[in-house]
Amino acid sequence: MVTDPPPMDFAQHLKAQVDIATVVADYVRLRRIGNRLTGLCPFHNEKTPSFSIYADHQFFKCFGCDAKGDVFNFVMMIEGLTFWEALKKLAEQNGIPLPKQSLASDETTKLRAALYEMHEIAADHFRENLGSNAGASTRAYLSQRGVTAESIRQFGIGLADSGGRLLRMLESRRFSKEQMEASGLVGRREDGSLYERFRNRLMFPIHSETGKIIAFGGRALDPEEKAKYMNSPETEIYKKSHVLYNLNRAKKTAMQTDRMVLVEGYMDVIGATQAGVIEAVATCGTALTTEQIRAMKRHSQNLQLNFDPDAAGSKAAERSIKLLLDESMRVRVVELEGGLDPDEYCKKHGAEAYRARVDNAKSYFYWLADRARGKFNMREPQGRVDAFQSLLPAIQGLANKLERSVVATDLAGYLGIEQGLVLDHFRKMAADRVEHAPILKTQPTAHATDRILLPLLLGNEDARPQLVIALQEMAGPRSGKTGPLYDIIMAMHEAGEAITFNSVHERLPAEQQALLQAIVLDAANAGATLEDGLACIAAWKRETHGETQRDLKAQIKQAEREGRFEDALRLMKNLGNHPKS
Ligand code: UTP
Ligand code: MN
Repeated sequence: MVTDPPPMDFAQHLKAQVDIATVVADYVRLRRIGNRLTGLCPFHNEKTPSFSIYADHQFFKCFGCDAKGDVFNFVMMIEGLTFWEALKKLAEQNGIPLPKQSLASDETTKLRAALYEMHEIAADHFRENLGSNAGASTRAYLSQRGVTAESIRQFGIGLADSGGRLLRMLESRRFSKEQMEASGLVGRREDGSLYERFRNRLMFPIHSETGKIIAFGGRALDPEEKAKYMNSPETEIYKKSHVLYNLNRAKKTAMQTDRMVLVEGYMDVIGATQAGVIEAVATCGTALTTEQIRAMKRHSQNLQLNFDPDAAGSKAAERSIKLLLDESMRVRVVELEGGLDPDEYCKKHGAEAYRARVDNAKSYFYWLADRARGKFNMREPQGRVDAFQSLLPAIQGLANKLERSVVATDLAGYLGIEQGLVLDHFRKMAADRVEHAPILKTQPTAHATDRILLPLLLGNEDARPQLVIALQEMAGPRSGKTGPLYDIIMAMHEAGEAITFNSVHERLPAEQQALLQAIVLDAANAGATLEDGLACIAAWKRETHGETQRDLKAQIKQAEREGRFEDALRLMKNLGNHPKS
């Protein structure tokens, strides 16, 4: 007879059979670099990946926030689970039987297990109700709203009746009163008796990211009912601010299409899905939070925002955009004409029309600009300038300085403002920054060479290789305060890394970041060519050569004065050497 290993041995046994990369790939978009896999860290906000998986050692580590550990640590951290829960989850996912002698578990783990079970029971019960004779009118309602039988199945939609049967089922399964109350499915009256929270409502199960039912949203069926939607309260397994409706299904597609669509309601998710937009998620009746944004960002950094076009929706959109930009998401706003929400739009105009709207959504700043248009008199130049000014805080919220100036220029065009005005504004901003940045204050302004060369190296892929070769031929390290910028760019080029403003910017210490920003912003409209760049390097070489010659002459004089004639002779030999050019 085979005896079960004790839990710690079981953990080792389990660990040997699961691949950490496979587990993590469910949550993080990973890319292979050499013998490691990297991606954006799911545990802190970042723009370039510092999170790595070392498959050889079955270990993950983030160099940004120092999160690290094995596959259990990862699952515990990302799902907010205890060790035992993580163990159980991984075992179940991989079809590895748990030891029969059930793992020792703490109280929280036991309660959570009971809550998950009650939610499964409730969901089954609601589904059965909807399918039964008693569900006929609700099925008719759904069909009249265009919800297909396939959607009912896929989303697990059900019906809460008012017969008290769920309560009796839970009682018969020997859940304690405390457990039932803690599930949020059941309430307790003053006299201590229990009642079902959801009655006569269309029920939408809400899943955790990994697909466990953790809560419900219930839509009133009676139009007279005051609360149109009623949702589960927060429980030991449901933290509203962390959960997005449908993320468990949407994430698979989102990783492929590299975008997500955020809508406001359950019915919107279902409508969008039926229209073929299956990477749609919704908040569950709460304002969007940073935790929710990070959950989306793990799958894609691109978000199409599709809130209701009413005043409340627009306000929520404006607020959400700010939060999304803070988390470095790339935001587009889907606009639907006719004051329709996504679900209504799909029904009225069809799947193809909706998909086209989502696919062609414009960057959020056009949406903000359209809102500004409505607030100012756009026929007057001053009105247009005011409208532009009102958008500046949003533009200044962009993390990337170069992007700021591009967006500003775009927006100015969109609002019909003269380009010169915008450039003036940004020049002033750059100048202010130079004035206010203490490190830059003590340094002379950037050399003209840097203003031409650096933007070329960063932004012109065709010119870069030739410029790098020319720079390599320069004797010695590139001196001066911008020297380290060139060194980094050249090192990255040699290592075959992508060179962009962002990738270089992130590698630099703070004072050099400021320097790079100032130079690049300064040169935003330079439009230099490869020839300009090569001419700069040639001039630079001559200059450096001139400096070296002057330096040598001084050293020779010094040696002669001190009677070190052999040294002087040796130095003189170098004097005639000309650099390759
Ligand atoms: P809406 O009022 O826009 O409803 O609320 P809806 O999603 O379009 O639903 P239908 O089409 O009328 O059936 C949007 C979302 O806000 C939350 C729900 O999550 C809802 O899906 N909400 C709304 C609540 O939590 N409570 C409410 O009372 C109303
Ligand atoms: Mn609706």
